Amino acid sequence: MTRHFLDLADAGGDAIAAMINDAIDRKAARKGWPKGKVDADAPLAGHTLGMIFEKNSTRTRVSFDMAIRQLGGTSVVMDAGTMQLGRGESVADTARVLSRYVDAIMIRTDDHAKVREMADYASVPVINGLTDVSHPCQIMADLLTVIEHDKALPGSKWAWLGDGNNVLHSIVEAAGLMKFSVAIGCPQGYDPDGTYVEAARARGADIRICRDAREAAADADVVVTDTWISMGQLHAEEKLAAMMPFQVSSDLMARAKRDALFLHCLPAHRGEEVVDAVIDGPRSVIWDEAENRLHAQKSVLLWAFGKLG
Ligand code: CP
Ligand code: NVA
Repeated sequence: MTRHFLDLADAGGDAIAAMINDAIDRKAARKGWPKGKVDADAPLAGHTLGMIFEKNSTRTRVSFDMAIRQLGGTSVVMDAGTMQLGRGESVADTARVLSRYVDAIMIRTDDHAKVREMADYASVPVINGLTDVSHPCQIMADLLTVIEHDKALPGSKWAWLGDGNNVLHSIVEAAGLMKFSVAIGCPQGYDPDGTYVEAARARGADIRICRDAREAAADADVVVTDTWISMGQLHAEEKLAAMMPFQVSSDLMARAKRDALFLHCLPAHRGEEVVDAVIDGPRSVIWDEAENRLHAQKSVLLWAFGKLG
């Protein structure tokens, strides 16, 4: 059966653990190597990844491109605006055609339904490179980063501050699969989608919504935030004002455990969701997190090609 990675639950907790272990091993094995050198086993030699972008990207685009190269394969990067997709060719037909040229498709799009449709019509694996609803590839890197910084996932306490967005949905999904808790500090009207929250709770995760940022951050092992205005959303002053009490400040960070980690998927809006003293401070692991997109994306590709999990 074709393996699609549309959300973390498509892989499941055991496969995610295997993917993180493989990422740790591959990262260690190529320490000090030039970025373009292929891993010794070249597990995806001869394979091609097609990538479609309907939205901007730096990390997802470059990390997947380098990931497939390091695994021995190659990539084709397509901007939707210059494809026939951008002038009305259907997602279904695009999926059927690309499946004849490439071995896997990664797509970043404004509508989660399009990723599902791509998967329904593609005969090769489809990977979600961010939608309006979720960002599972990012969270694979976040999980890797937390483990790499000597924190066990089961039982850990994560605090999310800010908008109930796509990144949060995948964190909540991960909480259910990897058995950690999330205290979500967000203003009324900006809660995450209840479907993700209920699914994580059904898997036994403690997911709390707090209207007080200090309560959400209390005793956290991991503090995480993201932009208040995601791609495709209107820049509304009203939303920025509502979010301000949930800004990750030094005071708020001090509510977390002394060795708490600070995560941000980037790009950051310094002075909005986080202040410089935190994002550039001693608890911030954002550059490791960004680097880990590369290592985590390699394991996502290996899983999708049936070589892991
Ligand atoms: N974090 C992330 O997905 O970054 P890009 O938008 O640059 O891909
Ligand atoms: N929530 C952000 C994440 C960017 C990587 C967005 O969707 O724009």
